[in-house]
Amino acid sequence: MTDDVARARELIDHATSVAVLTGAGISAESGIPTFRDALTGLWERFRPEELATPEAFEANPKLVWDWYAWRRAIVAKALPNAGHRAIAGLERQCHGRDVDFTLITQNVDGLHLAAGSHRVVELHGNIRRVKCFHRHHPVESWPEGDEVPTCPRCGSLLRPDVVWFGEALPPEALAAAVAAARTCDVFLCVGTSTVVEPAASLPFTALDAGARVIEVNPQPTPLTSGASVSLRGTAGAILPLLV
Ligand code: OAD
Repeated sequence: MTDDVARARELIDHATSVAVLTGAGISAESGIPTFRDALTGLWERFRPEELATPEAFEANPKLVWDWYAWRRAIVAKALPNAGHRAIAGLERQCHGRDVDFTLITQNVDGLHLAAGSHRVVELHGNIRRVKCFHRHHPVESWPEGDEVPTCPRCGSLLRPDVVWFGEALPPEALAAAVAAARTCDVFLCVGTSTVVEPAASLPFTALDAGARVIEVNPQPTPLTSGASVSLRGTAGAILPLLV
């Protein structure tokens, strides 16, 4: 076990309050493309910023609906990996030691819940959930077909229940995430490029509040220089060593 892993494990073992932030990197080993890796196949000519916006949906609802249907099909086949399972194990360990634990995710794939995590703050929504565009009526099922389905209650077009660029995050989710960042004494940041706000500020909020920050990422990020421990590697390989 390298010194850095041992140091990270010691910080976690002595924590009184733990917050975890995950990004697309933790789902990469489950076969779900990250955002800033090249989009594969059919969608390689589009950038998420061009599709994941209310304007893109209003301009071309079918293109955006089909992109999310493609992503939903990938997510439906994806299984949690060792990284997701390690975080679910960390939650159980913390509860066993009466240590506060909050998992905050930017991911919309639902894999943390599938891995057995309970307290999951979904900052950017969940692609498995669908709602209508104008009134946000939740919709449990919809007809498959060529047309973008409509809301049975108000007739508005359906859309995925995820946060698009330019949209506000769910206020209660953001408040819970900020509160956890402010009160934790260990903040574990996994698989995020730490560039998209407001999630990107959370580890820095934790640092400002005096927490120790542990980063797990195969690449350096803007957080690396400020982190107490930066573990260069994949979530699936490193997280099981920390729990
Ligand atoms: P990105 O695609 O921006 O970054 C993925 C990060 O994961 C990078 O830093 C990679 O180095 C790292 N990574 C790749 N493979 C990994 C692995 N096996 N284990 C650990 N880390 C790995 O994804 P996010 O940072 O999550 O927002 O992107 C943040 C937000 O930007 C997303 O939530 C989404 C996107 O636009 C919205 O859609 C609103």
